[in-house]
Amino acid sequence: MTSQQAPVETQTQDDRMTAPRREMFQVGESTDGASRDERRVSVAIDHVSAWYGAKRAVTDVSLEAYANSVTALIGPSGCGKSTLLRCINRMHEINVGARAEGSIRLEGADVYGADVDATRVRQRIGMVFQKPNPFPTMSIAENVAAGLRFMNIGSKSETQDRVEYALKASALWDEVKNDLNKPGMALSGGQQQRLCIARTIAVEPEVVLMDEPCSALDPVATLKIEDLMSELAKRYTIIIVTHNLQQAARVADYTGFMLMEESDGAGHLIEYSPTSDLFTQPKDKRTEDFITGRFG
Ligand SMILES: Nc1ncnc2c1ncn2[C@@H]1O[C@H](COP(=O)(O)OP(=O)(O)O)[C@@H](O)[C@H]1O
Ligand SMILES: [Mg+2]
Repeated sequence: MTSQQAPVETQTQDDRMTAPRREMFQVGESTDGASRDERRVSVAIDHVSAWYGAKRAVTDVSLEAYANSVTALIGPSGCGKSTLLRCINRMHEINVGARAEGSIRLEGADVYGADVDATRVRQRIGMVFQKPNPFPTMSIAENVAAGLRFMNIGSKSETQDRVEYALKASALWDEVKNDLNKPGMALSGGQQQRLCIARTIAVEPEVVLMDEPCSALDPVATLKIEDLMSELAKRYTIIIVTHNLQQAARVADYTGFMLMEESDGAGHLIEYSPTSDLFTQPKDKRTEDFITGRFG
């Protein structure tokens, strides 16, 4: 079976119906510069289900996330978004008794392959969490270099170069370049989150997963991170979980809507489409109900 492909973006069918909704969500311009035909699949999720012990959390999700695109997962709390995200870089299995089925491929190679090292997977597929989590005893520079040291990457001068590169790529360099030895914890919340993004990209991943990365931040810091996501998508595959529909509409090229189904009490992927289609002409009534605020 093949993964669910996001259909090629189509023209709006009914402007009377879709115009207000488009306005409501300010659907952004696609950051995906390549024509749709040139899309390269970066992460292929194929019939993935996940459990915590006997409790099923995700059922049979298939979708393809494209390189140099932002893919968003939306849906009510508890519908399995974080679990699915954590399956992608094998963090799910860190939970005692947790397991997953199905296949996840990065650039065509199975991340759950028998000879694949989970640590190497987590280098190639980095993760940024909800609450900024700089290492409390480390300076700004040490925080960014932490992953490099942990993974034994690079000489001292290479490390310095990578710290600078990562801080620039995270739009933090100008604010901290004279304070690299100050504690990471001394930064504001929004700066700390950009520091965590810098720490993630310092090890040169191919994919960056972000689980509600702005939910602890104020609106100004949130917009900065959103701008950064679009910028990072030029180099990386970005997959975000967000409870903020406006955010998905603003930054994501593709959006997947997940929902917990009564039949098995686990999250299913209801619809996966180019973001503007999902928000302006949802294919499923449940998607429409969710984005118009009827539940969730
Ligand atoms: N560590 C865990 N142990 C047991 N159940 C969990 C754990 N984490 C999440 N769950 C359950 O899995 C389901 C999906 O959770 P989650 O993936 O966190 O959803 P979301 O991110 O969409 O809010 C929920 O029913 C939640 O209670
Ligand atoms: Mg979550």
